Amino acid sequence: MNRTRIASTSPENLPASLKDAQAILSRGEVVAMPTETVYGLAGAAFDEMALTRIFGVKARPTFDPLIIHVSPGLMERAKGADAIDKLRSLRLVDAEKLSPESRKIALVLIKNFWPGPLTLILPKTPFVPDLATSGLPGVALRMPLHPVAQALIDISNQPLAAPSANRFGRISPTTAKHVLNELGDRIELILDGGPCDVGLESTVISVEPLRVLRPGGLDVREIEKVLSASLGRTISIEKATSPVEALSKKAQLSPGMLASHYSPRKPLILLTGAAATLPKLPESAPPLMGLLIWSERDAAICLERFSKLGVTISLVRWMVSAATDPVSEAGVREGARNLFARMRELDDSGDVSEIWAEHCPVNEGLGHAIRDRMTRAAHR
Ligand code: TXA
Ligand code: MG
Repeated sequence: MNRTRIASTSPENLPASLKDAQAILSRGEVVAMPTETVYGLAGAAFDEMALTRIFGVKARPTFDPLIIHVSPGLMERAKGADAIDKLRSLRLVDAEKLSPESRKIALVLIKNFWPGPLTLILPKTPFVPDLATSGLPGVALRMPLHPVAQALIDISNQPLAAPSANRFGRISPTTAKHVLNELGDRIELILDGGPCDVGLESTVISVEPLRVLRPGGLDVREIEKVLSASLGRTISIEKATSPVEALSKKAQLSPGMLASHYSPRKPLILLTGAAATLPKLPESAPPLMGLLIWSERDAAICLERFSKLGVTISLVRWMVSAATDPVSEAGVREGARNLFARMRELDDSGDVSEIWAEHCPVNEGLGHAIRDRMTRAAHR
């Protein structure tokens, strides 16, 4: 394969880059595209050859199903009175298999949260290849917010399957450069849409039964609030099992729930307690220790306190800059945006042999999704 090209999507370059990407997709090949959550590895959703390429490029086991992406343009052009009918005419959703209640829930969620970081599992039609859903009866659907992803789907005039553009089990990419490091020489083209705004993968919700399969970029409390208001009764959505439970059960309802996932190559140890108040430290410090803390505000005190204990930190990175209140909503959003990039920096640094990481201090909403990713990154 030729060297992977990174294509600019600045206004003057966008048309040529999209044309280039579309030509590759129409050959049943794959391209990396930016979304607001993380970069995706896109291929034509109904094309088994493209799906096979996606699994091959990622070295992803075929038991881990793919999310299929639609765009506002595609939905607008599809026939149908509402979004479910449109998804039916796009040959994605078997609307007959949805109960009236579930259909209502799906419509409320689509109306309020698409485009955005919400993936819905809905009953699939026979047209959706089993490869895309790993043989499961539901298909995962999302409408990304990123204009480049939307434009690529529009110009391709078809839904695109796209998992995160990393090798299986690794940290999801949030810049074009990350994709290059992960998949360079395995793919022809990366559309560069800049750093991802959300930084965490979408929240995955199964509609029937109503369940969170993966916490992510959309706060589940926000979903509950909107559903409760629309349906006129309190809706609380059953949460996904813990990673460890999911692993021990073997029954993988949603395979992104694998306990070990989103992993750096180097060992990542989660510290118990706040880094600045000196948490209980692991028994022996590695020679080249990389420290990942939540807030820049704690950097100096951490370095001082760790060094008093005889632990030398070779590199320190933080998720939230000093300018932002680290436990505010803005702080958690900033932390989510930076998490994977900072993890990757420490992982790629020659000065680090092991990563010690402070957990996100907030365990609700987006904070809960961040803790989920960090727990999995630490799991061996
Ligand atoms: O934000 C995102 O969701 C990104 C961007 C590129 O859209 N995509 C992403 O895809 O994170 P991926 O393949 O890395 O994770 C998709 C996860 C699967 O691991 C699985 O947990 C769940 O979505 N999933 C997909 N299809 C499913 C299905 N039919 N039933 C249940 N869960 C499914
Ligand atoms: Mg992934």
